[in-house]
Amino acid sequence: MRQRYYIEDIGEHVDSEVTLEGWLTGKRSSGKILFLQFRDGTGFIQCVASKSDIGEEAFEAAAGLTVESSLKVTGTVKADSRAPGGYELSVMGLQIVHVADEYPIGRKEHGDAFLLDHRHLWIRSSRQFAILRIRATVISAARDYFDSRGYTMLDTPILTPAACEGTTTLFSTDYFGESAYLTQSGQLYNEATAMAFGKVYCFGPSLRAEKSKTRRHLTEFWQIEPEIAFADLSDIMDVQEELVSEIVGRVLKDRARELEMLERDTEVLKRVQPPFPRVTYSEMVKLLGKNGVEFEWGNDFGAEHETVISQTFDRPFMVTHFPKSVKPFYMELDPEDERLTLSVDMLAPEGYGEIVGGGQRVTDLAVLERSVDEGALPRADYEWYIDLRRFGSVPHGGFGLGLERVVAWVCGIHHLRETIPFPRMLKRLRP
Ligand code: 4AD
Ligand code: MG
Repeated sequence: MRQRYYIEDIGEHVDSEVTLEGWLTGKRSSGKILFLQFRDGTGFIQCVASKSDIGEEAFEAAAGLTVESSLKVTGTVKADSRAPGGYELSVMGLQIVHVADEYPIGRKEHGDAFLLDHRHLWIRSSRQFAILRIRATVISAARDYFDSRGYTMLDTPILTPAACEGTTTLFSTDYFGESAYLTQSGQLYNEATAMAFGKVYCFGPSLRAEKSKTRRHLTEFWQIEPEIAFADLSDIMDVQEELVSEIVGRVLKDRARELEMLERDTEVLKRVQPPFPRVTYSEMVKLLGKNGVEFEWGNDFGAEHETVISQTFDRPFMVTHFPKSVKPFYMELDPEDERLTLSVDMLAPEGYGEIVGGGQRVTDLAVLERSVDEGALPRADYEWYIDLRRFGSVPHGGFGLGLERVVAWVCGIHHLRETIPFPRMLKRLRP
């Protein structure tokens, strides 16, 4: 393949001639000089063209270009500490590929609905570029974490007859005459593969019919879910904090420019080092009381409680031992207090709240059977899962890291809808 040049690696070509292929994001002119703001998908750069260098005809054509027109620009790379990325392109020639129609975004301040309706174009903007590049890095850092530690990545099904996270958020679909659900989590299948492969993880979409409109809930989100045989609650917490620290470290190292574009306070992110504070659910309840928030033991934390609590910590922290009443059927009970479970959620600071959920799973056959029945779950659809407790049952556990929640926090942005290329939410199926 012919050599291609990208803005991302432009620093390797200072004072050389390169051709960049991309789109015009804006332009400004001062008589005989044209400043073209240009992006190629790997970054942004200013291209400076003068009439004397490129000729009258090319100059006029460039001066008339509309925003988001596509073009190839040839020129010499100049190091310039005043330029946003540190470089500028001194244009020698340009080739117009397509002249864009009048671009709908950017002429004025837009409302959320307008931007979401134009998500297919909105993802071209610099803020979305920064967020989605960080998303890609979070994914690869998480996968590298597990791949380099001997986990086997095994995909879990999207179509399933069994609910994992309660029956109120199920999307159901017709499956050749019988009813199937879209997966809420790969966990139950991970437990089966963990008994076959020891340490596993899956990475895929989770689908939940979230009927409330919040900034923290998508109906389609992605989870990275490890599951480990012979692991107890303490092992699970160690993996959580190590994984999250490694992800944040990678973003700081590889996506410094994107964090800067988002004006993210990186001091907060630099503090993300193990060990993270660990508190129990009951301690959280007391903490809420101290912060003047009324909360009854036995209830689940809502967004408002998480926000208050997560503002009192300066790094991610883990909450353990939730009551059985607020956790799903598969949670192992605390041998010291059977009202409690061996569960752990990780909450991000700065008001972000839950980013990871997991814990130890039920090991004992009779306990699991009772729990399935108490949850009024149809036995027939869980028989395979119960089988895992009939054939070499071992203590085991795992968790799910919510990709979009982590990206929102790392980027320091308010709403989850910007953390995924095409968000799916209540009343948002398009584009
Ligand atoms: O806490 P959750 O429901 O846990 C599970 O699904 C477990 N079965 C995972 C496991 O143990 N393998 O979801 C896990 C994480 C949450 O901590 C949160 O970060 C994210 O997934 N999450 C959502 N993200 C965006 N939109 C939603 N509607 C989400 N629901 C959960
Ligand atoms: Mg949870």
